[in-house]
Amino acid sequence: MNDSIRSQFPSLKRIVNGRPIVHFDGPAGTQVPQSVIDAMVNVYSNCNANTHGHFITSHETDQLINHCRKQVAELLGAEGPDTISFGANMTTLNFTLANAIARTLQPGDEILITQLDHEANRGPWLNQRRHGIIVREVALEEDGSLDYADLEKKISERTRVVAIGLASNIFGTVNEIDRVRQLAYEAGALLVVDAVHYVPHLLTDVQAIDCDFMLCSAYKFYGPHVGILYSRPGALDSLNTDRLRVQVQRAPNRIETGTHNHAALVGVSACVDFLASFGNGNSTREKIISGMSVLQTHERGLAQQLYLGLRDLEGVDIYGPPLKEEQRAPTISFTIENKRPAEVCKFLAEHSICAWDGHFYAKRAVEVLDLMEVGGVTRMGIAVYNVESEVEYAISTLKKFVEG
Ligand SMILES: Cc1ncc(COP(=O)(O)O)c(C=O)c1O
Repeated sequence: MNDSIRSQFPSLKRIVNGRPIVHFDGPAGTQVPQSVIDAMVNVYSNCNANTHGHFITSHETDQLINHCRKQVAELLGAEGPDTISFGANMTTLNFTLANAIARTLQPGDEILITQLDHEANRGPWLNQRRHGIIVREVALEEDGSLDYADLEKKISERTRVVAIGLASNIFGTVNEIDRVRQLAYEAGALLVVDAVHYVPHLLTDVQAIDCDFMLCSAYKFYGPHVGILYSRPGALDSLNTDRLRVQVQRAPNRIETGTHNHAALVGVSACVDFLASFGNGNSTREKIISGMSVLQTHERGLAQQLYLGLRDLEGVDIYGPPLKEEQRAPTISFTIENKRPAEVCKFLAEHSICAWDGHFYAKRAVEVLDLMEVGGVTRMGIAVYNVESEVEYAISTLKKFVEG
């Protein structure tokens, strides 16, 4: 299976410093398979037109947009294509969403965010303080999980929105979303979920999660740069979004502005097919369900290997929940005693390994764990195209680094 997956990614053939490049930078954006690239090239080669015209290429553009909504609905387990909106990226969509929701709020109303979240699910809500809205944040525990007692303390009948991530892009923590949903709905609050780091690694079932809004980003799951918003049927139609009077006013268009990146949307459809290609079944959803389980098993095995290898290295501290947790993303962050993460990543880069250092916009979490001073952490993320030999190579390279 490994070779057949890897051969689909042209960028993995790149030679850097005399050896094939190794990508552990997936949490910041994965590599893209040939099928996705071909699909996008085909748009510019054959059917490059704007929407709603009376000619063939325009019809095709209308169809490709609708098809992409259907494909993403299958990926997320959504009710249907009208629940899926597109934007430039997750951050932009979330700013628009937060501004629209805030128009329904009064000064003194409260929004609950977390210390674990990426700034993209904090900044848009923190901004609403300018309207007299109170933003409270759920505390982070040392082990990279949320303090649920603190969440219970901070949620109240004044809470109008709970904005929370599904999986942490720094520690791989998967939050207890059932518990959060229960509390949010008891308080009568909207639940907005950032699933950017979850969708690439674990089967997403947005109806089971039962949130009002969910956001994700296709470049994290083998696609191009497109932001995706799921809205519960009816939820978007009642919001006063920034939009033009000439556009379609109802969901899913209500939060979309201007012309889409049509080639990228075709790429998103193709990357859903790519994920479905690992599974079996009669529908895209069935294939996604079994395909994500194959992908999860593969990624978990490698994450385990990486975790154990790192644990055996002198002076290495690994952050986040233990890997035995069933629900954990295969993303591992660590520090090495007396070494800055930037030094670690430069050494890895000299050995053709791509990995990130810093806070990855999960800056509040890094501040709370007192890691800003040391330059944050080194993060290595497993993707579907990674293989055992790459993990072995990374560990032996880090061993060389540690031993000086
Ligand atoms: C967990 C998480 N949320 C949100 C974002 C922002 O996504 P985008 O780059 O599409 O705005 C990222 C990007 O790294 C992320 O990892």
